[in-house]
Amino acid sequence: MAMIIDGKKISAEIKEELKLEVAALKERGVEVTLAVIQVGNDPASTVYVGNKKKACEFIGIRSLAYELPEETNEEELLRLIDELNAREDVNGILVQLPLPKGMDEDLVIQRISPKKDVDGFHPMNVGLLNIGQEGFVSCTPAGVIELLKRSNIEIEGKECVVLGRSNIVGKPMAALLLRENGTVTICHSRTKDLKSVTKRADILVAAIGKRGFVTADHVKEGAVVIDVGINRNEFNKLCGDVAFEEVEKVVSAITPVPGGVGPMTIAMLMKNCVKAARIQNGI
Ligand code: GUN
Repeated sequence: MAMIIDGKKISAEIKEELKLEVAALKERGVEVTLAVIQVGNDPASTVYVGNKKKACEFIGIRSLAYELPEETNEEELLRLIDELNAREDVNGILVQLPLPKGMDEDLVIQRISPKKDVDGFHPMNVGLLNIGQEGFVSCTPAGVIELLKRSNIEIEGKECVVLGRSNIVGKPMAALLLRENGTVTICHSRTKDLKSVTKRADILVAAIGKRGFVTADHVKEGAVVIDVGINRNEFNKLCGDVAFEEVEKVVSAITPVPGGVGPMTIAMLMKNCVKAARIQNGI
């Protein structure tokens, strides 16, 4: 029987720990504050932003919401970021993606101070991760590492295969597994004989955005499978990149969707906010 890695439970534990940490910081006069900017009203973004606000509220982090209309121009958004960068009472800044068409996401991300970039998307933080130095790490891959560690799954020396090479998940995931001394391979749409590569994996991380793509014949018996995918099936039900029912029978541990990696992303964002507040206040 495979162990089902319970991301909901693990993320709840992290949030409880953070609650105590935030309360202790408050006693020392530090009010952890996150500014969340949403431009336009993409329904999925509204749900994500709402969940982030709820998590802040639960933990005791002050959240400042900036809901800008769809027709906001880039200049105005950049001006708001400059203002938040300069404010000492704001520790973290998050611009919800995607931005409306016509806005240059790279330019916007680069405008956020790397010290307040709690998403870990700024090139400075991406660079720090890749040279093994301390910075902010993208929340979803950081959440995967936390899930593995808290489930007592060793990474060192393991064959780790990452399916997908996005800037937000695949690439930072590979860098983090490498930092933990895994032997890392990244696969993507041009990889030849994919199954022969994924079958080598002791730890397989699927982050390609294709429903049920990873089937039992992609995995080695006893492997650990982490499913980062968030897709919807024909009944609009959430499902991952892994064909859970058949893969579960072959592996030693697996994350479900929903309730696996998903809840970890927000928990790690909250952790990054606390870290930003600590660094900015020298504690
Ligand atoms: N859109 C979807 N996921 C994310 C995320 O983790 N951060 C931001 N800023 N936007 C997103």
